[in-house]
Amino acid sequence: MPTIAIISQKGGAGKTTLALHMAAAAEDAGYTALLIDLDPQATASQWAAWRLDAPPVVIDSAPPRLAAKIKQATGQGAEFIVIDTPPHADSAASAAVEAADLVLIPCRLSAFDLAAIKTTASLVKMRGKPAFVIFTAGSPVAPRMYEEAAQLVQDYGLEACPHHIADRAAFRHAVAEGKTAMEIEPNGKAADEVRQLYMWTCNHVNMQSHKKRRTGA
Ligand SMILES: Nc1ncnc2c1ncn2[C@@H]1O[C@H](COP(=O)(O)OP(=O)(O)OP(=O)(O)O)[C@@H](O)[C@H]1O
Ligand SMILES: [Mg+2]
Repeated sequence: MPTIAIISQKGGAGKTTLALHMAAAAEDAGYTALLIDLDPQATASQWAAWRLDAPPVVIDSAPPRLAAKIKQATGQGAEFIVIDTPPHADSAASAAVEAADLVLIPCRLSAFDLAAIKTTASLVKMRGKPAFVIFTAGSPVAPRMYEEAAQLVQDYGLEACPHHIADRAAFRHAVAEGKTAMEIEPNGKAADEVRQLYMWTCNHVNMQSHKKRRTGA
């Protein structure tokens, strides 16, 4: 069952925002999604509490327990798992990469953030997992910046995802209210970006983007 790790050694890169939106997009598409929070800051768990535990389900885990938690969740019907990780934590990031079918690395477009990708790149390469950089919180109208950043990412031996999560107030407002961009502005650009990225992700883990409904009596 598809397991997506969201990692970045850099603080504030947009890991939790991306993780909870990916899990919520899978729920919106009819799957039972699970978000596993490896971050001792428990930001994703806080978000779940704010939304009174409406789906997606968020559970926490210590890194050494991750494999067992995934096994248990799969037995209980989880169909799409997203792992949110803390910054500056090799052991949590390594455990998440180890468990993942696909690794997504959110990265802001600043020079400092792009330089920090090197550390994350070497961690992913050691494990040989498919990994893509997702540019986050950049200007929605600066295609040239994304092209330059994608080139830099390639120089580090990683690939940039063609879909971005731009800097949009809807992401900030939604998360602060325990909601998603799809919930507060279903027809907005932020929601659209999440859906595009979710569908692209499904493609990379060989999963139908929408769960087929059972038919019959
Ligand atoms: N695409 C975006 N548009 C606007 N604001 C964003 C976007 N992504 C993240 N943010 C804001 O940036 C801040 C950091 O985001 P987030 O908590 O997702 O990062 P993080 O990588 O999980 O941080 P940490 O390393 O502390 O776990 C939050 O205030 C969030 O609302
Ligand atoms: Mg976080």
